Amino acid sequence: MSAAARTLTARRPAAPLAGTIAVPGDKSISHRALMFGALAIGETSIAGLLEGEDVLRTAAAMRALGATVTRDAPGAWRVAGRGVGGLTEPDEVLDMGNSGTAARLLAGILASHPLFAVMTGDASLRRRPMRRVIDPLSACGARFTAREGGRLPLAIEGATEALPLDYRLPVASAQVKSAVLLCGLNAPGITRVEEPEPTRDHSENMLRHFGAEVAVVPAGTGRVITLRGQPELRGADVTVPGDPSSAAFPIVAALLVPGSRLTITGVGLNPLRTGLFATLREMGAALTVTRERLAGGEPVGDLLVEHTALRGTEVPPGRVPSMIDEFPVLAVAAACAQGVTRMRGLHELRVKESDRLTATAALLSANGARVELDGDDLVVHGTGRPPAGGGLVATHMDHRLAMSALVLGLATAQPVTVDDGSFIDTSFPGFVALMNAAAGEGAPALLAA
Ligand code: S3P
Repeated sequence: MSAAARTLTARRPAAPLAGTIAVPGDKSISHRALMFGALAIGETSIAGLLEGEDVLRTAAAMRALGATVTRDAPGAWRVAGRGVGGLTEPDEVLDMGNSGTAARLLAGILASHPLFAVMTGDASLRRRPMRRVIDPLSACGARFTAREGGRLPLAIEGATEALPLDYRLPVASAQVKSAVLLCGLNAPGITRVEEPEPTRDHSENMLRHFGAEVAVVPAGTGRVITLRGQPELRGADVTVPGDPSSAAFPIVAALLVPGSRLTITGVGLNPLRTGLFATLREMGAALTVTRERLAGGEPVGDLLVEHTALRGTEVPPGRVPSMIDEFPVLAVAAACAQGVTRMRGLHELRVKESDRLTATAALLSANGARVELDGDDLVVHGTGRPPAGGGLVATHMDHRLAMSALVLGLATAQPVTVDDGSFIDTSFPGFVALMNAAAGEGAPALLAA
């Protein structure tokens, strides 16, 4: 638990979830908008930026590296960039807080800048593996000194004349892919990354939007991405869609609370992010998309979700990257569904903000659900009714575990308590107020204990 741990409890709401809500901006796109803005010449104007702790760490890091980052109004930010290769050496240690994305993408940027920097993070981030970026980035000429096991704090001596990288990812990771591409921005020639499965392509889309030359071709089950180095990135306007990974929580809540009917507007629908929606539909969910449109180069739509009796399903390993952050909340839905749900090939969950595979199983069993870990598979035995609830869930500094447990508590007969909800602010500031508002008048469903 952090020093300012915040215990939270969820109980069944007095009324169904109803009305129209919007979730905060996409976390992945928000980090990238600030970073690419800092690497561009001229001004980048961002609408709908997620003002969660993780993204604020990226904003602070870009300032420490010489970019001018200004907040004009809620979600409305401007970045005056330094140009590719133009960032300057930071005076202080860069503290990336809880954010793996911020740390890994920044390692990519720093690797091809001729400067010295030290990066650290909170206790969760200091446990997470960085060798997955240190190894490929070292080949450009950068030097890294990390703690035992390739953990933060990490000292980086960026290359003076970086070499372009050619790398096949050993795991499907958009963070590692993006780190390599960001490094390649300041290396002459072609940087090439091969991914074994397609992962979220926000970096590729946004690099093009800022004027870089990026090609993507299918290769086997995955893709090859090439980037021509040393482009002149030009400041651009970025509209950040609502985060589908945040929308997942009110969606599953509305599916589980009888009588609910909720609309969530402006949710990002990039096909490499929508694996949860496909899975929920296979489970029978009444989940429809309306007003599909393009906003800032990304598909966006409104989602209408209605309470549904769900049935178990099987999630194939190939779908994992497109819903990598959604397994805890899917497991909650599965615990209330009729029949078995098997989620296959979840090894990457062990290196998220917590060991999410173990922690998700613990979350469910603390609340009376039947769950097993079978190697890297998570198997949930649903009975068609919510489990009893009544558990105290350890959240291990992990925002998504906290929100998933609270969603479960909206459906169970006994309330569900989390030991620390403070990390929810990393990705979904306002979550408690938004869920309480969706549950309408009467006693709030989510409460600080
Ligand atoms: C992210 C990629 C994912 C995801 C994370 C955000 C990104 O990590 O879990 O929340 O913005 O690139 P991996 O690509 O390492 O699985």
